[in-house]
Amino acid sequence: MIIFPFPGYEILAQKISSKLSAKVGELEVREFPDKESFVRIGSEVRDEDVILLCGLEEPNSKALAAIFFADTAKELGAKKVGLVAPYLGYMRQDTRFHNGEAVSSKIFAGIVSQHFDWLITVDPHLHRYKSLDEIYSIPSLVLHATEQISKWIKLNIPNPLIIGPDQESKQWVEAIAKHISAPYEILNKTRLGDEEVKISLPNIRDYRGHIPVLVDDIISTAHTMAQTVKHLIELGMSAPTCVGVHAIFAKNGYEILQQAGAAKIITCNTVAHPSNAIDIDQLIIKAVENFYER
Ligand code: R5P
Repeated sequence: MIIFPFPGYEILAQKISSKLSAKVGELEVREFPDKESFVRIGSEVRDEDVILLCGLEEPNSKALAAIFFADTAKELGAKKVGLVAPYLGYMRQDTRFHNGEAVSSKIFAGIVSQHFDWLITVDPHLHRYKSLDEIYSIPSLVLHATEQISKWIKLNIPNPLIIGPDQESKQWVEAIAKHISAPYEILNKTRLGDEEVKISLPNIRDYRGHIPVLVDDIISTAHTMAQTVKHLIELGMSAPTCVGVHAIFAKNGYEILQQAGAAKIITCNTVAHPSNAIDIDQLIIKAVENFYER
């Protein structure tokens, strides 16, 4: 088996390779001056099982290069090409919200499924879809960071009240609250635009002495979390800690959340960011190992 890391995934590739006695392959990925992608596989892949490590945040630039990799590996004789994407992009447009919109989650899944043989990812945004199998036609394995997040909260936040800013966050919030036997609240969100949301007021009457911990899967523009932080502070709660699985932080999202008054901003290392404090590498390593033992 050979593992090929996209730029930024070299350490994870080394960790997987030492655990599974697999080789780390040489891969050059870069952009030409005109922004087209250049991909060169520098290791022999004939008759090998090949894994590409590549998160699909900023998918418009990365996905095409990942596809070039997969097809080239197959042309060069690789047996199978799997994708380990700690973050799976294009999951949120999971319906046609307005006439004429592309349901990009489904189209993107179709494209990835055409080029890769299997997929492992962490907490994809499964909301209207209950499973990746509804849109991905290749075998996939979904990992959950809830145990790692629960451990972090238990270690760092005394007397937490877990708060989900919208119904979509319920699956993570419920699992984490159950893990650490903490109370939780799920709020309602109305999305008015890419950077405009309306979050319902939390009911904190019974939780005055608790420390609020906001939990969501994706922090993108951070307006969802920022508005919830502001509500809590206005209601007299202590400054909340914000925990996200995936640190997308589009534009100045991180600064927006800091300025809203978050006490701490914590994310898992599925997308590299200074807020990464919860390491999920072992989860991925174990999953790859189990996948290969099946
Ligand atoms: C969608 O519902 C997700 O779970 C997040 O709530 C959403 O991605 C957050 O977006 P933003 O950070 O742009 O408010």
